[in-house]
Amino acid sequence: MHDFNNNITLRTGKMEDVEAVYQLNKTVFSEYWSRTSIFSAMESDYDLLLCESEGALVGYLLSLSVLDEVQIMQIAVSEDYRRQGLASRMTDSFVTSHPDISSVMLEVRLSNNAARACYAQLGFEEVGYRKNYYAPDAAGSREDAVLMTKKV
Ligand SMILES: CC(C)(COP(=O)(O)OP(=O)(O)OC[C@H]1O[C@@H](n2cnc3c(N)ncnc32)[C@H](O)[C@@H]1OP(=O)(O)O)[C@@H](O)C(=O)NCCC(=O)NCCS
Repeated sequence: MHDFNNNITLRTGKMEDVEAVYQLNKTVFSEYWSRTSIFSAMESDYDLLLCESEGALVGYLLSLSVLDEVQIMQIAVSEDYRRQGLASRMTDSFVTSHPDISSVMLEVRLSNNAARACYAQLGFEEVGYRKNYYAPDAAGSREDAVLMTKKV
């Protein structure tokens, strides 16, 4: 576990950051995005916020804004840096720096208690479910998504 105050900085991600984001997303998610998908997202004006410790990527938030609504597509924090407020800091920072936003939404796996607890602490409410939303696992079963939103 690394210390929260260990030179953590936030900055906007660029095309050059796609490889580092890809590598982190690959370690964090069972169903991760391809390089091409992340590149396409950047080309399509998704917002990428990076969290770095001494220049190394330790977390990111990838989101898509449509008018005043934002969808968080991915948020991830490297395992060694969790429970230090970084996901909260990225979400707060993104919302604060986009004053025109009126709501933020996301889908999260039903079994992802850490993320659901994190979003609940940030003021998100669980507003619905998407049945069998995720791709089948090795046993062929598909997990539901919980739909969460926050009014800002
Ligand atoms: C979910 C995730 C982004 C949270 O990142 P984080 O930087 O550790 O979150 P924070 O430190 O900001 O946590 C804020 C609050 O969320 C809750 N929380 C976070 N992780 C938790 C866990 N493992 N268990 C229970 N509550 C948790 C706590 O209330 C925490 O506050 P506290 O530490 O003061 O108790 C991180 O666990 C992660 O990258 N997980 C894998 C990727 C993922 O699932 N992303 C979400 C997909 S929708």
